[in-house]
Amino acid sequence: MKINKLLVGLLTSVTLVASVAQAAELSMVSGDTGTGLAFLRSQLDKFEAETGNTVTVVPMPSSTSDQFGQYKLWLAAGNSDIDVYQTDVIWAPQLADQFLDLTDAAKDVVGQHFPSIIESQTVDGKLVALPAFTDAPALFYRKDLLDKYSKPIPTTWDEMAATAKEIMDAERTAGNAEMYGFVFQGNAYEGLTCNALEWVKSNGGGQIVEADGTISINNPQAAAAIERAASWIGTIAPEGNLAYQEEESRGVWQLGNSVFMRNWPYAYALGAGDDSAVKGLFDVAPLPAGDGEGSGSAATLGGWNVAVSKYSSDPEEAIKLALYLSSTEVQKERAINQSNLPTIEALYDDADVLAASPFMANWKEIFQNAVPRPSAPTKIKYNEVSSLFWSAVHSTLSGNGTAAENLEGLEADLTDLKGDAW
Ligand code: GLC
Repeated sequence: MKINKLLVGLLTSVTLVASVAQAAELSMVSGDTGTGLAFLRSQLDKFEAETGNTVTVVPMPSSTSDQFGQYKLWLAAGNSDIDVYQTDVIWAPQLADQFLDLTDAAKDVVGQHFPSIIESQTVDGKLVALPAFTDAPALFYRKDLLDKYSKPIPTTWDEMAATAKEIMDAERTAGNAEMYGFVFQGNAYEGLTCNALEWVKSNGGGQIVEADGTISINNPQAAAAIERAASWIGTIAPEGNLAYQEEESRGVWQLGNSVFMRNWPYAYALGAGDDSAVKGLFDVAPLPAGDGEGSGSAATLGGWNVAVSKYSSDPEEAIKLALYLSSTEVQKERAINQSNLPTIEALYDDADVLAASPFMANWKEIFQNAVPRPSAPTKIKYNEVSSLFWSAVHSTLSGNGTAAENLEGLEADLTDLKGDAW
């Protein structure tokens, strides 16, 4: 009896020591949009309970451009304080050298994800990050207002602007002085690159830099698309829209003060929340098309992934965390709770997911046809390409030069940047 007790005691302490020794203290960085960080924390709590590891989240600003600037510095300095990074879909070619190859670790699960997404995170045969969710934007519209004014869901940008103006004016006359027609991401950052790529591509104006590396942006259809967007500022969109990122647009929209909004799917769950003024009053549709040859609705491909720093002091546990955050379990919760689009095909047929986010049934096709930003052809120069593009567009929206002038300058700058080859 005595010996038995002693043995049990001994075994318990051995087990304890063993699990304490194995437990890792990990830290990860993630930007914050909406309730994204609170959701992440809820998932990390489960990971901690399952593994005994602890994970500290270092919160970052919601602007992907600001995150990128910081991460590049940390990684270049070999920072070992951060084990896991939440990474934007466009970063893989630029940061590939700084992250571990996850090919082996993910070999049993990689087939669950859409091949195009895995491909976007693969650089020279190295799987740089595992997908957490994908992104393709929508035109959010007020069902109640379109009904009230007997308007159809617009399918072209001009129709959108005309409907927006008519409803905005009527609502203002009826007493809502805060009402606007359309809000989008017009700040000078990566989000504007996404919006403007949609205007240009949907107007038959190409993809800034084509898949073969050709600089195509200086063309009349692109210029017309950007001029059209410039005409929205101060008419259907507030002047302040020039400084809006995702969250500022959502703020106006969710207070009930805009007829339309361009935003990513995360705004769906938040807009449907109990504290939202537009709960039950909105739905989403594909973005409108331009006109002219080659026009048609275009959505920029977005999305977020999880990468493991090659400077992590506990790569094995950090890889476990990356696998967990990209798993079916977490992606399902994400789709229900955050209305983020899964990268795992099977979840698009999941009854719980479709009940929470019915729009997802249509969004599988939209994201599969989404337009990639030119991060693959321009490789490590993508960030500069994007920043030159969003600057040219922001100048035009602000009334500094015409779109044609600014695109001519942009073409010259991109040609310099390219040199002999990207
Ligand atoms: C969304 C997209 C991301 C994009 C960003 C721009 O977060 O998922 O890919 O870069 O918006 O603001």
